[in-house]
Amino acid sequence: MKTPQLNEPDIALVHDESGEVTLYIDDVQAMQGWEKSLMWRSADLLCERGGEFLEVGLGLGYSALRIAGRADTYRHTVVEKYPKVVELFHAANPEPPATLEIVQADFFDFVDRLQPDSYDGVFFDPELPKALFEDRRLLDEFMPKVVRALRRGGTFVPMFSLDGDVPDAATCTASAAVMLDRYLRFFDRVLVERHKYHAYANTAYTPAQQGDAFILCFTKD
Ligand SMILES: C[S@@+](CC[C@H](N)C(=O)[O-])C[C@H]1O[C@@H](n2cnc3c(N)ncnc32)[C@H](O)[C@@H]1O
Repeated sequence: MKTPQLNEPDIALVHDESGEVTLYIDDVQAMQGWEKSLMWRSADLLCERGGEFLEVGLGLGYSALRIAGRADTYRHTVVEKYPKVVELFHAANPEPPATLEIVQADFFDFVDRLQPDSYDGVFFDPELPKALFEDRRLLDEFMPKVVRALRRGGTFVPMFSLDGDVPDAATCTASAAVMLDRYLRFFDRVLVERHKYHAYANTAYTPAQQGDAFILCFTKD
């Protein structure tokens, strides 16, 4: 699949004096430290029955470490497009769990190599340009391949969604209604959990500095 994503964007990991962490990809806030608890809960829902998992987008590695670190995970593969993100992760985490394998690839190429019935769960949180995120033809092309790669009873958890109108600066952040509209038709069941989020004062991609976040966990029966 050909997608119009930059191959060599500027990537910067910024730790400010108050302890806040932001991963910037071409000046876009791709990931921030306040998301950690939501990433952990998303990972726990994804992995409830243990097994072998796939994740798209390494970011700060919060969800990757949570999934790979579980006693009942025997393998966790993370597909990350940018070598610099992988390098930053290894610098911060020199001894990741042995279950964790990071593959440097563009997911939209990698998806064609997925084997049927090979994962118990897929966590999907790549930072995509808005036009790509909203491209329904692309979604209809790759999602059947993801679903086919899931075993029966397998789970799919996308980036959490937020209550309220997301600002234009948000690329892949959306309301729960938008996420249900994107993904529910590919699955048989969905569980929705509501959590409070507390973003940073400089967060550009949330409707407010705090509010409700919804984690959606879809299941293939
Ligand atoms: C929001 S971060 C992931 C955050 C992660 N869940 C965590 O807990 O830190 C999104 C990641 O997706 C990666 N990404 C963007 N496009 C991608 C693609 N086409 N294939 C694979 N990874 C991609 C970005 O480089 C970035 O590292």
